[in-house]
Amino acid sequence: MEISEAPFHPVVKRLCAMKGMKSFYPPQEEAIRKGILDGKNVLMVTQTASGKTFLAELIAVNNVLSGRGKTVYLTPLKALAIEKYSDFIEYERIGIRTIATMGDYDSSEPMLERYDIIVATYEKMDSILRHRPSWLSRVSLVIIDEIHYLDDEKRGPVLESLIAKLKSMKSDAQILGLSATVGNPEEISSWLDAELVLSSWRPIPLKEGVYYRGKIKFSDGEEKKISEPFSSPVLDLINDVISDGGQAIVFVNSRRRAVSLAQTVAKRLKMNKSSEAEELSKLIIESSEVQSLNEVLSEMIKNRVSFHHAGLTVEQRRMIEEGFRKGAINVIVATPTLAAGVNLPARRVIIESSERYVAGEGNSPIKVLEYKQFAGRAGRPGYDEYGEAILIAGDPVEVREMFSQYINGKPESIYSKMGSSSAFRSHLLSYIATLEKLRLEDIRGFVKNTLYSRQMSQESAKKLLSDSLRFLKEKGFIEEEGKYYKATSYGKYVSDLYIDPLSAELVKEAFSKKKRATDFSIMHIIAATPDMPKLSLKKKEFAKIDAAFVELIPEILLGLEDRDVSYEDILSEVKTALFLYDWINEVPEQEICEKYDLGPGDVYSFIESAAWIAYAIYKLSDVLEQAKQYSKKLEALSYRVKYGIKEELYELVSIPEIGRVRARNLYSSGFRSIEDIRKASVNELMRVRGIGERLAYRIKEYALKHSD
Ligand SMILES: Nc1ncnc2c1ncn2[C@@H]1O[C@H](COP(=O)(O)OP(=O)(O)OP(=O)(O)O)[C@@H](O)[C@H]1O
Ligand SMILES: [Mg+2]
Repeated sequence: MEISEAPFHPVVKRLCAMKGMKSFYPPQEEAIRKGILDGKNVLMVTQTASGKTFLAELIAVNNVLSGRGKTVYLTPLKALAIEKYSDFIEYERIGIRTIATMGDYDSSEPMLERYDIIVATYEKMDSILRHRPSWLSRVSLVIIDEIHYLDDEKRGPVLESLIAKLKSMKSDAQILGLSATVGNPEEISSWLDAELVLSSWRPIPLKEGVYYRGKIKFSDGEEKKISEPFSSPVLDLINDVISDGGQAIVFVNSRRRAVSLAQTVAKRLKMNKSSEAEELSKLIIESSEVQSLNEVLSEMIKNRVSFHHAGLTVEQRRMIEEGFRKGAINVIVATPTLAAGVNLPARRVIIESSERYVAGEGNSPIKVLEYKQFAGRAGRPGYDEYGEAILIAGDPVEVREMFSQYINGKPESIYSKMGSSSAFRSHLLSYIATLEKLRLEDIRGFVKNTLYSRQMSQESAKKLLSDSLRFLKEKGFIEEEGKYYKATSYGKYVSDLYIDPLSAELVKEAFSKKKRATDFSIMHIIAATPDMPKLSLKKKEFAKIDAAFVELIPEILLGLEDRDVSYEDILSEVKTALFLYDWINEVPEQEICEKYDLGPGDVYSFIESAAWIAYAIYKLSDVLEQAKQYSKKLEALSYRVKYGIKEELYELVSIPEIGRVRARNLYSSGFRSIEDIRKASVNELMRVRGIGERLAYRIKEYALKHSD
């Protein structure tokens, strides 16, 4: 179908023409035929790179231009939300207002009223729904990208309850689900009440194959000999594609491996010099607070190679992806964080190992779904004529297994993860709190709208519901009033704070103790809540953390006796609390990263969760009698966790671009408040470490406006 003939708003057609896009891909055409433009729910389960995300972008823009209402665009990961936002921002020149929103979960975000397209993570949208902002009624299209995340332990239940809520609240918004890897598309589309578009068509051929002893065997029967100058399968495969002018992404199974392999590649493969790579290498040297990491990255990027994993900051990852897109970087060695949705010019994707270590389970094979997502990064439109995805086998038996398991395999079915009691009780409470007054039938109706209830036996769904209602009632989150269930003000409060009801219970319990709460006690409460991800505990650390635990017992308010957790979990909590304690006492990030074996990206994401919980605990002190006396301390700690500072720096970090390090430098040089900065000259400010001329002017300007 020619784009010019499709029933789109003329402006959309013109924009496509300007981008040189003439016709729709067959799966896109089928989606249009099936009513994607007429408000019908559609689930697209079509190949990687088949244009799902791009079609959704056009539908969103069309929706706005046709005056139908707002579009909400949901992605599982922040990085994808940011990428999508930068695509939508291009439409600003035709008057479409887009915003990306994430983090800060206790607001109805009234300012979103002003935007046409709202790009959000699943969590953020779930938290927004809890506040029922008035603009919700004007949302006419909800796009859910990478919908296979329904199967994810953490994000799945959030997305599922969000969809169930939309259905139960009788929203008439159109739902559009997108994924390349859903094994049970019929079941999911029937749950979504959606037309199904199913297709294996791909715009750029993707050749899948297995490498063994100098030869790639492709699924179409073709064989390709690879020269073996390195006698290392992965190096030879990289070398082969680079010498042919292509670029490669290698997926490995651990961060450690990503770094070490990238270093080996940088050292052993001869690449042509590139001035763009030199430039990027210089930029990256100041990309995080962790100098040792910056140096390692910078050195290898000079050689046009980089690793990519979640320990890097979001900004570093963006720089690396951009460098790869521009051809400055030729090889990226990545962990699975890179896999979903991104468009990169990889001619060859190499999957070094089809196994991954899972704590408690040992090595297990990766899912077919993951393999297909990895493979799908190769051969993206606009870059190469074809793409290759290569697995590496250790023996002939493995060659056959890899073909049957992965290349000819079908992605797994998506199963609801809502059955965990923690997920269920949180979302149940949020539903009751959002809808205010519900009969038991209404609540059952909500449960019926979940994927969980479709996939599980009626008995288990019934039992989960009655257990959860009992828990919520016993703990005072909900109450019965005649035939109705409603949230108590405490229940509503907890739901609005976007934390697990059990977290609130733990806080209550902790502050009921006769012990005095210290800074460490509170870091430990944060670490102990089910909302806080825990730092993993390594075997060799066991004795050290155990000793710290024994010493810290007087400050720990939530002991072993209170909870049903293993001793190992208790120790991970202690380790997590120690990390938070170092953070709020201004231990340098480099030192924290070494001590806890983290990257700056990890620090950022742990702190983001912790800051949210710290803030929620502070807010709970308004409604929990037991915690009231700590209200001031909790408020201060919530800032300290957010910024990683001692209390005295609080005023300084409120200045834009002043983080914990610069704030400390200013403070040590005698500038202790905004007022001090107002009185200082730019020259004096420039003498402070980390403050250049531009920044000195800016903070001075800020101080002039803001000091009182
Ligand atoms: N009709 C079209 N004509 C030309 N290029 C297109 C067309 N549709 C999409 N593209 C381009 O193809 C590339 C891949 O599209 P897109 O990212 O939407 O694929 P996808 O199906 O979402 O892939 P994934 O499953 O990996 O997320 C993008 O660069 C996009 O701009
Ligand atoms: Mg996509």
